[in-house]
Amino acid sequence: MPLRPDFLWGGATAANQYEGAFNTDGKGLSVADVTKFRPEIPMTDFAKNQYYTLAEVEAAASDTADDSVLRYAKRHGSDFYHRYKEDIALMAELGFKTFRMSIAWTRIFPNGDDEKPNEAGLAFYDRVFDELEKYNIEPLVTLSHYEPPVNLALNYDGWYDRQVIDFFLKFVNTVVTRYASRVKYWLTFNEVDSMSRHPLTTGAIIEEKFTGRNLEEVYVQAMHHQFVASALATKIIHDIRPEAQVGCMITKRTVYPLTANPSDVLAAQAAERDVYLYSDVQVRGYYPQYYYNQLNQKGITLVKNLGDDEIMRAYPVDFISFSYYSSSCVTTTDKGETDSGNIYSGVKNPYLKTSEWGWAMDPQGLRKSLIDLYDRYQKPLFIVENGLGAIDKVESDGSINDDYRIEYLRTHIREMIRAVEEDGVDLLGYTPWGWIDLVSAGTSQMSKRYGVVYVDCDDYGNGTFNRRKKKSFSWYQKVIKSNGQDL
Ligand code: BG6
Repeated sequence: MPLRPDFLWGGATAANQYEGAFNTDGKGLSVADVTKFRPEIPMTDFAKNQYYTLAEVEAAASDTADDSVLRYAKRHGSDFYHRYKEDIALMAELGFKTFRMSIAWTRIFPNGDDEKPNEAGLAFYDRVFDELEKYNIEPLVTLSHYEPPVNLALNYDGWYDRQVIDFFLKFVNTVVTRYASRVKYWLTFNEVDSMSRHPLTTGAIIEEKFTGRNLEEVYVQAMHHQFVASALATKIIHDIRPEAQVGCMITKRTVYPLTANPSDVLAAQAAERDVYLYSDVQVRGYYPQYYYNQLNQKGITLVKNLGDDEIMRAYPVDFISFSYYSSSCVTTTDKGETDSGNIYSGVKNPYLKTSEWGWAMDPQGLRKSLIDLYDRYQKPLFIVENGLGAIDKVESDGSINDDYRIEYLRTHIREMIRAVEEDGVDLLGYTPWGWIDLVSAGTSQMSKRYGVVYVDCDDYGNGTFNRRKKKSFSWYQKVIKSNGQDL
């Protein structure tokens, strides 16, 4: 079977990296607004780029003035807040059927624990949905994409604190009640597996506040609260709009054994199990036994409230969405050179080339991921992120010849189509990450560009923010028009 005729081609973004206007119309500060571009840290050092001390978060939370000098790049994003009409017109020109966005929790509940929602924030998304409707573009909305209110990090213990489930569900109830008639596709938590990789942006957890504690136990608990919240958010959405479709969202890591040594093969299997844990819980509704065994071995206690297991079982997701950028290798031997990869570091695959940020480019790994996920769950899949972060050059005539990006997308889309046509995968859609340039999640760089549309802004927030089509724009337009036949 070819791609379905209603295949959802589009592009992906997140409010915290795209909207800007960080303190406009009553918006509160999110954890993303306190992270900054730090050129003093190597851009391939993901872990260091994610770490912030308590003092740094506190200082940033009281620095609300100058985003460019202070380098809080996510505060300006790509200024979608003021340019949404222009951007949605560009989406329509590309032929988008869907647009992946998130709703910033802090536009609706500026501090997370507020009594009443902020009407000006709600009105902004009304305007966005009005504009999308004009062009028949279906929104795909993430409820939590690295943007919890910083207040919940400073004055609570982030997602470690069980009260945060209630705050989040109040936000979910508010936005789903308001927009249910306009939004059919929802995702609960972006890359729900990322708690231990970047606790601040995923879980509003400031590590220093837990000094002396077993941090892994803290993350396990915070994750559990997100799983319960995800199940209850799914319930809220279905109660309000029964035919709505709710997806989980995981970082799909494809892991290969470096050699045929059975120990390497087992290590790769274990690494992939770490990926599936997060979809297993949200699709099947319970933790796999091996996870309890692991917690036991590590002496970690997972505290569940009475009823948590029943909630997780009762409200599983309808589909599985994921990001896919690269693959990695593992080995139990001391052979192999380390690479950086999307958030994970692994052992370099000698058969693959890497991006400027050291991420291995592996289109066949995408096909493998699609097959593995579909065989495992037999539920529809959705690729909600894929793309190449690269430095783009604007030529003297204004053109941007990003053939490398076309090549990356072409080879990945080709494998995606094979997975559908030959391997029988049920795929709902494809939304490449950062269809328009936006601020990098990992390093807060603007120069790590993913878009088919260029945004004139540098790593320090200087620029006009004007939009410019890259060479990949007309290429992607043609791909969408031909439903993936003309690559
Ligand atoms: C995913 C995130 O992990 O990767 C996005 O969901 C992020 O928010 C994307 O932007 C690419 O990572 P980066 O660090 O290059 O922006």
